Amino acid sequence: MWVLGIESSCDETAAAVVDGALRLKTNIVSTQVATHAPFGGVVPEVASREHALRVVEVVKQATRPIGGLSALDGIAVTAGPGLVGALLVGLQYAKGLAFGLDVPFVAINHLEGHLAACLLSQPTPPYPHVALLVSGGHTQLYHVRAFGKYELLGTTRDDAAGEAFDKIAKLLGLGYPGGAAMEAAARGGDPEAIPFPRAKLSQPLDFSFSGLKTAASNRLRAVGGQASLSAAARQEFCASFQAAIVDTLVEKTMAAARAMRCQHIALGGGVSANGVLREQLTARARTEGCTVYLPPRALCTDNAAMVAAAGVVRLQRKECSPFNFSPRARWPLGDRPDALAETSALL
Ligand code: KG4
Ligand code: ZN
Repeated sequence: MWVLGIESSCDETAAAVVDGALRLKTNIVSTQVATHAPFGGVVPEVASREHALRVVEVVKQATRPIGGLSALDGIAVTAGPGLVGALLVGLQYAKGLAFGLDVPFVAINHLEGHLAACLLSQPTPPYPHVALLVSGGHTQLYHVRAFGKYELLGTTRDDAAGEAFDKIAKLLGLGYPGGAAMEAAARGGDPEAIPFPRAKLSQPLDFSFSGLKTAASNRLRAVGGQASLSAAARQEFCASFQAAIVDTLVEKTMAAARAMRCQHIALGGGVSANGVLREQLTARARTEGCTVYLPPRALCTDNAAMVAAAGVVRLQRKECSPFNFSPRARWPLGDRPDALAETSALL
């Protein structure tokens, strides 16, 4: 079985092929980062047009090694959440391909895709597990009872972790998106040099990064802006800022695992490419008798392999989507369980 995945929810046009045993065959990502860089962020209209220009070529490249489109047994495509115009390009292209090839088509939630990236490396996380989904648009904790069964345990009240990285990286002149550049700039710096705040919330599994963002930008302004930072001061600033985000993510993920009495923890989303987060969560989980399951680094940021992986599972269950499936700007993955009040009491 060969399933083609297509991703176009934001600024990466991507196509990938995964087989029925969840082995990755091809993974093509055409990034629009350089196109959007002069604007300091993604311009939705430009993103849609770029997807339209690129989608045919990335699908050609992804399917060439399996002998072309005729080898496909199904097509999976991101249908939300994301930029509607951008999603529309991939979604309509996927529908056309599926109709023309007479193969099943399935619309995939991008967030489920990020969590499915873990299925592409061994061992895969057993169920139930706690999942931390941390990207440019989302910072959420889920209790995953089975594939497709998600309970939202916590979410951000304001900015996502990736968004906080991006905004402060921009102020530091590190470019956009800035998470990976911030990680590189922080390397070797003292993470305790600046005591950036960690938000305390009444709902302990929720996140808030806006206070941290304000504290970081105020501090930067107080020292006269990024241009007046010495190389050592910049390194300390980045290491301390990164530590504030990573500490919060690690603390809350472990609190969720304790609350759900769960020993398995999965990670997904662009920020899960961060080496400090991967190391610290893994080390901390070990001290509490838990195991962390990480997606391959290259499959953390937006890609179509994760979409194809989710598609394989759904298509093997015969879960197809109708051709009138529309793109969804918002598409929550799961609700908060009624028992969450009791869960909070356990913390
Ligand atoms: O999952 P993703 O590619 O797109 C969304 O669905 O949002 O995540 C992109 C986010 C950006 O905010 C980017 O700065 C962040 O992931 N990111 C990182 C790293 N690599 C990407 N953040 C921290 N450290 C990294 N190494
Ligand atoms: Zn994403």
